[in-house]
Amino acid sequence: MVILGIETSCDETALCILKTDGRSETGVNLEILANNVLSQIVLHRKYGGVFPMLAKREHAKNLVPLLKKTLEKSGFLRPVKKSENLKAYGLQLKNFLEREPELLKQFLELIPTIKKPPIDLISVTIGPGLEPALWVGLNFAKALSTVWQIPLVPINHMEGHIFSSLLRRKNEFSIFNFQFLNKLNAERYTLNAPGFPALALLISGGHTQLVLMRGMDNYEVVGETLDDAVGEAFDKVARILGLPYPGGPEISRLADEARARKDSGKPTEKRKLPRPMLHSPDLNFSFSGLKTAVLYLTKKIGTVDQDIKMQIAREFEDAVTEVLITKTQKAVERFGANALILGGGVTANKHIRETFRKWTYEHSGPAFYLPTIDHSTDNALMIAIAGFFHRNSAITETSGLSEIKAVGNLQLTPHCDT
Ligand code: KG4
Ligand code: ZN
Repeated sequence: MVILGIETSCDETALCILKTDGRSETGVNLEILANNVLSQIVLHRKYGGVFPMLAKREHAKNLVPLLKKTLEKSGFLRPVKKSENLKAYGLQLKNFLEREPELLKQFLELIPTIKKPPIDLISVTIGPGLEPALWVGLNFAKALSTVWQIPLVPINHMEGHIFSSLLRRKNEFSIFNFQFLNKLNAERYTLNAPGFPALALLISGGHTQLVLMRGMDNYEVVGETLDDAVGEAFDKVARILGLPYPGGPEISRLADEARARKDSGKPTEKRKLPRPMLHSPDLNFSFSGLKTAVLYLTKKIGTVDQDIKMQIAREFEDAVTEVLITKTQKAVERFGANALILGGGVTANKHIRETFRKWTYEHSGPAFYLPTIDHSTDNALMIAIAGFFHRNSAITETSGLSEIKAVGNLQLTPHCDT
């Protein structure tokens, strides 16, 4: 089965073509034929965060060129002798793409000139995320599904992050670590179901959730942030410290620099930050007070030089990590979790990765699943994988394609068939 994954929920336009031979004894075998992410970060920087209408416009501009590149890399970009006539689909295409004239124009320039690629399923993010951005990806997916007559499966972005973490590079643990074998298997992965019940801690720009999984398609949110998401807090604190968007990687870099110093950049008692809800009996989080505490601290200090920035970055990262791990440990214990899955863009954070790794390793904790850094932040591979698992709920033109909607606040539910 060959799957095209499409992701446009925020400021990354991402497409992936994934091949899978289905289930095997060792799990699902996956081969990435092409995996492209086009980040808009530089464009949003001047707004200090993601500007939804700009994100939407950029997705519309970039989807067709990115599709061309992705098909080319997969060896699926084959020209036709005589341009196909798309007249038969005119009305549907207009319905799906009329609000995106630039996308429609590019679509009509490319699609009739290439052969239908051997893709069996189109998998697209429908939420959660920025609705205008989600709609562009969804409408593009609907247009492709119509013209190529390929079923479409709607995917929850957060579920995608869970799948990203379950991926294992083939031969990752091979004792024969030959270079040529590594190269040969560079894009080959397996994916195994974790032991259940499993607990997923999802930390991204829009979410902070503890999710109990009793099966592969059985999600229950058992804890979440009451205000800001972790990634959002990183980004806001970075802004307070005058660091560019996205703040996560910037804070992380400064905090690491602080830890490498002789005094480890530890703050004085007076500059300690709070650990919000650390001891609350529930499994919820709150990060907005932490951000405000940073704001007051910087105001009190007055001139915030590089040294102080480093100190604050380190203390902020320590505070966030302590809260995240304490609540996760509590949840693992409460539900007797056999596996712990960390997912979402904030898992790119080195300190958070190491802290969780150390805990699960040293205390014989649950089996631990962590995405590689390049699979931590938004990508379309995770959406394609989720599509494989939901292939039986794929929708065709006749079974209600036009009814599928983008849902900005889409939730994970016990049965996540969207
Ligand atoms: O999952 P993601 O790519 O997009 C959403 O679904 O939101 O996550 C993006 C978030 C941003 O807030 C970004 O600052 C944060 O992940 N992030 C990090 C790091 N890299 C990305 N946060 C902390 N440390 C990092 N190294
Ligand atoms: Zn994400």
